[in-house]
Parts: sequence; structure tokens; C-alpha cells
Amino acid sequence: MTRISVKVDGVSYTDDVEPRLLLVHYLRDVVGKTGTPIGCDTTNCGACTVHMDGMSVKSCSVLAVQADGSEVTTIEGLGNGEWHPLQTAFREEHALQCGYCTPGMIMAAADLLRDHPDPSEQEIREGLEGNLCRCTGYQNIVRAVRRAAQSGRPAQSSQAAQSAQAGATS
Ligand code: FES
Ligand code: FES
Repeated sequence: MTRISVKVDGVSYTDDVEPRLLLVHYLRDVVGKTGTPIGCDTTNCGACTVHMDGMSVKSCSVLAVQADGSEVTTIEGLGNGEWHPLQTAFREEHALQCGYCTPGMIMAAADLLRDHPDPSEQEIREGLEGNLCRCTGYQNIVRAVRRAAQSGRPAQSSQAAQSAQAGATS
């Protein structure tokens, strides 16, 4: 077992984990963040996307021990207790059906909007190409990301992103 310390959605956790434990299993089974789903076993679908130190990662492709010392934000912490603009936009644009891809789609979109605050449709499609949706045909997802970008509210309000920004400017 290896001891790791990770901040998840603003709360610090220290746990002994097996070196082979995937971050997604740590988040779901140890920390209890079941809002992050597992959609495949091939690292293809992106449903498990979270932010690690402000960057989106597929948490099924990262070992929990690799997250030691990191700040992880899941869909449950993205809005800091409120609805994130992307969550509102996904609801308003009917950008989900079964919803299985939605947490990962929103986490990837939040990362995209941080780098591209006013993305074109092409940039959105390229930015989300690592996230698969079996239901929507993507049209409304693209619309929702555009709507969130145009809402004029912060593209990403996660604590990790704020910390990263503070670190970059200090
Ligand atoms: Fe991680 Fe599919 S569950 S990419
Ligand atoms: Fe069902 Fe995307 S809404 S997989």
C-alpha cells in the first residue's frame, strides 16, 4: 500500500492505496465521488474526465498514486456548490439524454473554455473529440458549450483552477 494525499473538490484526503488503483476507482470507491462515471475499459469514452491541477484528465488512465499531492476537481465540485454555467447551459440546450457522458463532457468543456473563452464550433468539436456520446449526436452539446461561453460568466470556477491561477500570478 502507498499513502497518498489528494485534495478532491476542496477537501483533503489521505489514504493508503494499492499502487495499481486507478484514480477513477479512488474517487468513486474511496472518496465517494460517484458523480464521475466509468463508461468503458479502454480509455476511449471520456466519461471519467476530471481536472487534475486544473487540467482535464481521463481518470481511468491515471493511477491514484500519480495524483498524490494534486488537487482534483470532479463534476461534483466544479461549480463550488452552485450550478456551473456549463451545467446550466447543458440543461437549457437539452444537451443530454441518458446523461452518462455528461459529467466528463462538462469537465472537458470547462477545460476547453479556459483556453478558448470564445470557441468556434470547430474548436468545440475538436476540444471534445476525446469524449463520446451515444445519444445526442453532439449538436446540442456544441450549442450548450457556445451558450456557456457567451453567458459572460467564468468559464471555470473550480477551486483547483482558481488555485492554479493564483499560483501563476503569485
Ligand atoms: Fe475513462 Fe471511458 S471510463 S475513458
Ligand atoms: Fe447518453 Fe451522452 S447523453 S451518452
